Amino acid sequence: MKRRTILRGLAGVAALGSAGAAINRISGARAGASGLSVTVLLDEPIGTIRPAIYSQFAEHIGGVIYDGIWVGTDSKVPNIGGIRKALVEHVTRLGKVVVRWPGGCFADRYHWRDGIGPVGARPRRFGRWREVTEPNTFGTHEFIRFCRLCDVEPYFAANVGTGSPEEYQQWVEYCNAPAGSTTLADERAANGQREPLGIRYWGVGNESWGCGGKFTPEDYCGEYRKFTEWLPEYGVKLYLIAAGPNSNDLDWTRRFFTKWADGTRAPIQGWAPHYYCGTTGHALKFTTDQWYEQLFKANQMETLIGDQWAILGLFDPEHKIKLVVDEWGSWHPAGTEVNQDHLFEQMGTLRDALVAALTLDTFNRHANKVDMANIAQLVNNLHSLFLADGDRFVATPNFHVFEMYRPHHGARSVRIDVHAPEVAFGPGKWPKRIFRIAGSASRTGQRQLTLTLVHTHATDPAEVSILLRGGSAREVRQTVLTHKELNAHNTFDQPETVVPRSTPTDLRGPELHCVLAPASVTRLDVTLG
Ligand code: AHR
Repeated sequence: MKRRTILRGLAGVAALGSAGAAINRISGARAGASGLSVTVLLDEPIGTIRPAIYSQFAEHIGGVIYDGIWVGTDSKVPNIGGIRKALVEHVTRLGKVVVRWPGGCFADRYHWRDGIGPVGARPRRFGRWREVTEPNTFGTHEFIRFCRLCDVEPYFAANVGTGSPEEYQQWVEYCNAPAGSTTLADERAANGQREPLGIRYWGVGNESWGCGGKFTPEDYCGEYRKFTEWLPEYGVKLYLIAAGPNSNDLDWTRRFFTKWADGTRAPIQGWAPHYYCGTTGHALKFTTDQWYEQLFKANQMETLIGDQWAILGLFDPEHKIKLVVDEWGSWHPAGTEVNQDHLFEQMGTLRDALVAALTLDTFNRHANKVDMANIAQLVNNLHSLFLADGDRFVATPNFHVFEMYRPHHGARSVRIDVHAPEVAFGPGKWPKRIFRIAGSASRTGQRQLTLTLVHTHATDPAEVSILLRGGSAREVRQTVLTHKELNAHNTFDQPETVVPRSTPTDLRGPELHCVLAPASVTRLDVTLG
């Protein structure tokens, strides 16, 4: 029996609109002998894929900033002015993405003035996370240097929980006021940065329903108004991001926007839900059922995007407000840290790479709705792209997925239809089902097509027909990330256990037959002709 692959969404809000329209939907397309097909609808555009949906998150927590990014100018670890050189070299390979800083929960205790001026004179505080001293060695200027070295764009999260609108607005002024125009601009110049930093992305609080102040949605909306009222732009078109719900909490979104709409509507460009798909089993030890269960949970991002978008549409029918999923990823129990001081650090396996890939494909398919997304977190934490400890550094399989997906940046997302039976998994009398194949496609110019596919089956390969509706392939190159062990991962000693492999193919024409390896991520670079 053929089944629809990803058609959840809108369960709770079916009446709200068409936001959950099938993305990977069944078509009348002819399936291959195996019954599996992917039809790429070359002339059905969805939207432009912003590189910012491939963004990162770096918080003052555990080993993310200190050890991960910042090793110090006197360190024997190769560094550029205190910033880990290997990290810079790798982040540069991610493209023009955004990095969110300084939290997370940390943001709602962070006072930006603690992190500027001569390092020796900066106050030391207890960190938000565990009772460890936050030295404030790494502050606004150091973060900007990191962003410039990597050629990524900064995104600042402001303190609503324990800060004030005045403090926040002064941070904006310190960063963005034209040279010489205000006392804060002069102070910035005295700290080595005469020209404005031009910070565009500003988050107003973080998880305001939780560690960001435990507000009700109505109270947070009141705070949001105060923080964003009368905010000078200093010539920079600000992109303001409001703290969205915990996962797909529809009540938070509905109540916030009901309040927002009851008077003057404060400016909001981005609405920021957080979705952690959590864990099943353990980072390294899990059963095959738990493999599927984790991917199934990750795939709830599809539902979240559809549901949240539908509610936004009730209050903002023109959909000027977009989604900014500024924290997402797996969250496994402790036990696989490379350094015990690295709170929440986890080993990333092939399973997490598939979580990343299927989530990125989901964002690509919703390119018209999602402006930015930030995986949590960049280094030495949850679902990280890198692990570092002293002079040791390794890229996890997640990094390779992000790099594999780079051709999607800035490309035009187009629809695909997937025709494939779902995979059933247990345990229990009523097994659950997950898509067998899902993915996304995008076009650059007239001739380049990028198709990425996640194949979830843990043991069997899939013979699939790829039908190019409206075009024909002249040349196809294939890149595959997989391993025979589902929990395969890269370590300091064996950094290349899970890496992508690229090969030319002899695939040509309007219908391509290829075999997807079990438990794999595949990218096809198709030159149309
Ligand atoms: O990413 C770790 C923490 O998870 C963040 O600080 C917080 O926003 C979330 O709950």
